[in-house]
Amino acid sequence: MSNAPAEALPTEEVDLSYANKVIDKYLTLPGNLMPVLQGIQDEYGFVPKPAIDLVAERLNVYPSQIYGVLTFYAQFHLKPRGRFIIRVCVGTACHVQGAERIVETFFEKLGIGHAETSPDLRYTFEKVACLGACGMAPLAMVNDDTFGKMTVQKVGEIITEYNQRPLK
Ligand code: FES
Repeated sequence: MSNAPAEALPTEEVDLSYANKVIDKYLTLPGNLMPVLQGIQDEYGFVPKPAIDLVAERLNVYPSQIYGVLTFYAQFHLKPRGRFIIRVCVGTACHVQGAERIVETFFEKLGIGHAETSPDLRYTFEKVACLGACGMAPLAMVNDDTFGKMTVQKVGEIITEYNQRPLK
């Protein structure tokens, strides 16, 4: 999985006061590693490396243990994610309705590939398996908004619309 544009971001310059607050909240509770990591991800949108070091120090666990948890559970992200998460279904029903063409069009227009984030942190793109609405294939989602019967033209319309939305 590559995420080249986002890797260049200065994740070291993270304000750790939020992470400290989350750790304070769960510090004395048993089994606190998962809620602490979830709380940190909720605050930052991902789990920044300096926060991992902080958690290791304050909860007295090895960083390798924390990385083990973070890489085991797909819900966790180690890199910054976009404000808008674009998901295009490549399940069977969507595939036969031309999902790959939709994916390629997003790649061309956004300049990022699968599991990548745009340098301005506006978009993260992901190919996903069946989203459970096969009757609307091919299907795309932007955050919680669903777009059925996708076409190449609709890709352009979606990007135009979300380009106008504020980043915060
Ligand atoms: S295969 Fe795409 S929604 Fe089911």
